[in-house]
Amino acid sequence: MLLLFTLILLMFTNLQLQLSMASSWPSLQESAATAKSGCQTHCGNLTVAYPFGIGVGSGCSRDASFDLTCNTTHDPPKLFIKSGNLQIFKISDSEMWITNFIAYRCYNQLGGVTDDIFAWTSLATTPFAFSQKNKFSVIGCDDFALITGTNGGDFSSGCFGLCGKPNDVPDGYCSGIGCCQTAIPKGLKTYNASLLSLRNHTRVVSFNRCGFAFLGEEQSFRFRGAEDLSNASEFHTRVQTMVHTVLEWVIESNRSCVEANECKGNSSCSDADIGGYRCSCNNGYHGNPYLDPGCKDINECDEEQSNIHCYGHCVNTAGSYNCTCWPGYTGDAKTPDGCRLINANTSKFPVMAFTLALVFGFVAILSGLIGVFFGIRKRKLNKLREKFFQQNGGVFLKQKLNAPGTSDAVIMFTTQQLRKATGNYSEDRIVGRGGYGVVYKGILPDKRVVAIKKSKLVDETQSEQFINEVLILTQVIHRNVVKLLGCCLEEEVPVLVYEFISNNTLFYHIHDRSGGMSWLSWESRLRVAIEAASALGYLHSQAATPIIHRDVKSTNILLDENYTTKISDFGASRLVPLDHDQVTTLVQGTLGYLDPEYFHTSQLTDKSDVYSFGVVLAELITGQKPLSANRTDDDKNLATYFVKAMKENRLFEIVEPRVLREGTLEQLQAAGDLVKRCLNLHGNDRPNMKEVAMELEGLKKFKTHPWDQQQTVHEEESRGLILEIEQSDLYEVPLIPYSSNEWESYSGSTTSMNFQESKPR
Ligand SMILES: *[C@@H]1O[C@H](CO)[C@@H](O)[C@H](O)[C@H]1NC(C)=O
Ligand SMILES: *[C@@H]1O[C@H](CO)[C@@H](O)[C@H](O)[C@H]1NC(C)=O
Ligand SMILES: *[C@@H]1O[C@H](CO)[C@@H](O)[C@H](O)[C@H]1NC(C)=O
Ligand SMILES: *[C@@H]1O[C@H](CO)[C@@H](O)[C@H](O)[C@H]1NC(C)=O
Ligand SMILES: *[C@@H]1O[C@H](CO)[C@@H](O)[C@H](O)[C@H]1NC(C)=O
Ligand SMILES: *[C@@H]1O[C@H](CO)[C@@H](O)[C@H](O)[C@H]1NC(C)=O
Ligand SMILES: *[C@@H]1O[C@H](CO)[C@@H](O)[C@H](O)[C@H]1NC(C)=O
Ligand SMILES: *[C@@H]1O[C@H](CO)[C@@H](O)[C@H](O)[C@H]1NC(C)=O
Repeated sequence: MLLLFTLILLMFTNLQLQLSMASSWPSLQESAATAKSGCQTHCGNLTVAYPFGIGVGSGCSRDASFDLTCNTTHDPPKLFIKSGNLQIFKISDSEMWITNFIAYRCYNQLGGVTDDIFAWTSLATTPFAFSQKNKFSVIGCDDFALITGTNGGDFSSGCFGLCGKPNDVPDGYCSGIGCCQTAIPKGLKTYNASLLSLRNHTRVVSFNRCGFAFLGEEQSFRFRGAEDLSNASEFHTRVQTMVHTVLEWVIESNRSCVEANECKGNSSCSDADIGGYRCSCNNGYHGNPYLDPGCKDINECDEEQSNIHCYGHCVNTAGSYNCTCWPGYTGDAKTPDGCRLINANTSKFPVMAFTLALVFGFVAILSGLIGVFFGIRKRKLNKLREKFFQQNGGVFLKQKLNAPGTSDAVIMFTTQQLRKATGNYSEDRIVGRGGYGVVYKGILPDKRVVAIKKSKLVDETQSEQFINEVLILTQVIHRNVVKLLGCCLEEEVPVLVYEFISNNTLFYHIHDRSGGMSWLSWESRLRVAIEAASALGYLHSQAATPIIHRDVKSTNILLDENYTTKISDFGASRLVPLDHDQVTTLVQGTLGYLDPEYFHTSQLTDKSDVYSFGVVLAELITGQKPLSANRTDDDKNLATYFVKAMKENRLFEIVEPRVLREGTLEQLQAAGDLVKRCLNLHGNDRPNMKEVAMELEGLKKFKTHPWDQQQTVHEEESRGLILEIEQSDLYEVPLIPYSSNEWESYSGSTTSMNFQESKPR
């Protein structure tokens, strides 16, 4: 119980913290207003706060004495007092650290002076003074230095650095042996330091050639003994970079707090002992006390703003905070484990009741907040999905599915399922791409491999038709028809899920010889043709609602791992608006298969599929592409080329050599005749699909030539072939522009042919 309680309290305080952090963002930025608006606040990594201002005469500072220069030619940029040579390394609310000038004097073996540099700095035109944190230091074994200066009056002092031999010099502190330090008076405004020697270093020159004197921050200088005495250049460099001179800065050195009254809200003024005054934020406040609106309260309960730790209940107050133990506890909440349980006997009931009330209160608030946070996001997503679902006809589909007598074969996949199956529609899962959309290879959680087709945008009026298609297709169960497993309507576009057919398209097997299509014997061709024809015949007559495929072509006939034929890609063509048929079909690149009668009249019948199938048959017999630029102008179209050859009695000239070898003359002649009838320009004169299937079946019964039997390739051998799928409608067959005259030039091609009885060799 207690554990739960503390847990909830912790969660709540965390939450509160996060909320207050989020809401305190703007105010944090406000309090960051350290300078006047429009003024530069940074020079390199130094922050310059008002009353200082960057830019001489820029108006950013309180007055000219606080003008600074930021020289950006240096990298990193350097900050200087006014436009002088006093570089600033750090500024605090009452001090600043500037360049330390070092005086030195060096001697040669004979006591001759080789270098003599004195050091002086003047702060006369500023309200600043040298801080007493500085010490005047003299380093050397035969040196004394004088420092003279002004602090309202004149000041002078000196210090001796003497030693006999290096061993005498203590390492680490300034004792007077080799190193001497002296204090300076407060309010020192200028100084001038110079070195002198007793014996011109003649006795110590072997280990100490130079003497040094400087005014610098005592705590940042550490004397290293004999090492510092012997290596002058190293010593100079080290002191120059490590030891800075500390200044105190005040506002108007000739006025006091009483006269000035300059400090802004929640800050107070203090007179400086060097003259002048400073403002500082009151305890519990922070900000810039010189700029309106003054200092702001520190939220001690916010760990971002303060380093105070409260182990109980923290309440921020103006300028302070209350840190108390949680109800039911007593003690010091500011120390860890400072709180202990109030003796249970004294006030058992109220504490328990209060605790319970708190627990339930917090639980309610928490769950409310969590609900709001996650609810908003989820609801947005769900709304979008629902919108797509409706736009894609999901409601209609549901109605249909709920109607009695419909199969439950259609699976409604969710967006997440399909995204997971396709690795979020990742590029490397794409197995085909084309006019209708993109096909991905997907793996369902039950390890089933599926083809997932994501259609292009469908307009809303098409959705019912699309749903109808889906419904019909899920009810078409034929071993030579690709099975539609389900769909997803929650996506922006409908997504269809098919069984995955692994062995590429018939087009690929006929025309792409690189794979070595040894299985594609005449016998296999006949089998594929029969399977495809019977599937189409079934669709035309036996399926619950006749289905016209409308896009029969060798790229829409797939082969599975056993080289079983699978007709694919029905529904998709129905997604296309009827009045846009031609356009879309042309774009799809199935020109070579298009029924010319349908092309002219737009009257779609099952005979259009027969025509297209005739072209596929012609492909199987000749091994030629439906459209080929290799053939001469008039013969580009395989259909016209084939019919012309039949008319001219040249069928055996265009049959593929292997087919010619393996098929009998009777078979080939009958097949050629069947193709010719399928390609009849008048749909009514074409056989229907069932008749085509039956005639093809009949061809199988023709006897094969005895000498061809050994040549028949065993299909088993080629079963191991693994080819990548290229999804049917997504094949891009090159387009050759067509004039409608070409169709007409072959009208009346139904005259019967005289076949030669002998097989040409
Ligand atoms: C500024 O940068 C220097 C080195 O570039 C570093 O030594 C110094 O500590 C930095 N100062 C601040 C206030 O970050
Ligand atoms: C900045 O420093 C460079 C190099 O020391 C000097 O030449 C230049 O005059 C300086 N610019 C200003 C504005 O002080
Ligand atoms: C500082 O003192 C040295 C030596 O006493 C003298 O030469 C120099 O002029 C003085 N400099 C100033 C600015 O007083
Ligand atoms: C030290 O050198 C200065 C000038 O070089 C000279 O006037 C002085 O006499 C020398 N003192 C000694 C003790 O050699
Ligand atoms: C002085 O110190 C520097 C750097 O530590 C070193 O390179 C140089 O050799 C030293 N010189 C002498 C004379 O010891
Ligand atoms: C303080 O000094 C400034 C210049 O340093 C001068 O303008 C001002 O009149 C002085 N104020 C008083 C009260 O002496
Ligand atoms: C001091 O700070 C408190 C809390 O931030 C604020 O309400 C108040 O107005 C401030 N006082 C002045 C004089 O600005
Ligand atoms: C802070 O604590 C003091 C004494 O513990 C109490 O008088 C005061 O009301 C508390 N203030 C708030 C804001 O809780």
